[in-house]
Amino acid sequence: MRTLQVKLGDRSYPIYLGEGLLARAGEFLKEAGCGERVGVVTNPTVAGLYLKPFQEALSRAGFRVTSILVADGEEHKSLKSLAAVYDQLIRARFDRGSCIVALGGGVIGDLAGFAAATFLRGVPYVQVPTTLLAQVDSSVGGKTGINHREGKNLIGAFYQPRVVVIDLAALRTLPRREFLAGLAEVVKYGIIEDPALFALLEEKLERVIALEPDLLEEAVGASCAIKARVVEKDEREEDYRSVLNFGHTIGHALESLTAYEKFLHGEAIAIGMTQAASISVRQGLCDEESRRRIGLLLRKAGLPTEIPSLIRVEDLVKKMEVDKKSAGGKVKFVLCEGIGKTQFCWLSAEEIAARLSA
Ligand code: NAD
Ligand code: GLY
Repeated sequence: MRTLQVKLGDRSYPIYLGEGLLARAGEFLKEAGCGERVGVVTNPTVAGLYLKPFQEALSRAGFRVTSILVADGEEHKSLKSLAAVYDQLIRARFDRGSCIVALGGGVIGDLAGFAAATFLRGVPYVQVPTTLLAQVDSSVGGKTGINHREGKNLIGAFYQPRVVVIDLAALRTLPRREFLAGLAEVVKYGIIEDPALFALLEEKLERVIALEPDLLEEAVGASCAIKARVVEKDEREEDYRSVLNFGHTIGHALESLTAYEKFLHGEAIAIGMTQAASISVRQGLCDEESRRRIGLLLRKAGLPTEIPSLIRVEDLVKKMEVDKKSAGGKVKFVLCEGIGKTQFCWLSAEEIAARLSA
């Protein structure tokens, strides 16, 4: 087992990661000071796989558990699901000393985290992420929220968990496509901050995809360590935290243009990262060899790297302009300076279109 720390003063918390940690959750919740009442928010897919043993582990440690099920899917990261979670917390007479646990992927983590941030003006919560994306990204850093019909994640709060418990064994039941989409975020950490992680993926990709425990621990641990460092520097995304958006400006635009139906988030990000690397080369920031390595690694992982031919660059750029990260007609782009270093760059629609089409 590996332990990392997210150091945020009185909001600091540990991340535990290793194989079989779901069975030890009671111990971690106790250490985090969680009260006797625990509400486990999850969905039917994850519940079918893990809820019973998880509940038993918490009961063995003396917790009284109420399970709260939300339907599976991004469309259920909604006000309606949130209201249903509040209803159940109120019906079960949860109080300020009670604790919420998010058991699932990023959808459950964001929703349960936001419920915790707002119920009774804030109760403690614990992230138990079960997808690779949630383990390396959404469970760490305290971004919580729900979607609005006008856009994703429009309602939310920064609210840090008390502890993050990552059981790598949960990845064994994750559909391969979901795993590979999560891997795109691991590649992202390599590009933005960690050449050694990038090289590890290049060298041992097949073994990571085969879920070899030591390699998984290395890759997930390195990713969480970077995420923790970024969040420690800029918890509320006033500046540096947006480095985590490498590949996301184009990725989000692609997801939106394809109605969130064609690509999983990580797949769109893989295309976004490859295109961001190409723009970086054309800006004179990145060498051609690094761009080649980024594209090659993502393709080897079975991820897409090209903008689909049906999508027009003008439409893509228009979407980026309305993205919440645009200001004064320019879009804040994260560009890479080779592998392991980035630079922010404000680009106009014309500049992006020109560099994407070159
Ligand atoms: P998800 O939560 O929808 O999970 C994907 C699928 O995998 C679901 O069907 C889920 O039921 C299933 N699943 C989960 N764990 C499983 C397991 N161990 N075995 C089998 N199936 C399993 O998707 P996701 O990719 O985990 O998360 C996406 C969400 O995360 C989006 O809403 C996104 O906005 C959010 N997100 C948040 C942050 C943040 O910082 N808070 C960062 C990135 C993404
Ligand atoms: N996933 C981006 C962030 O946490 O800031």
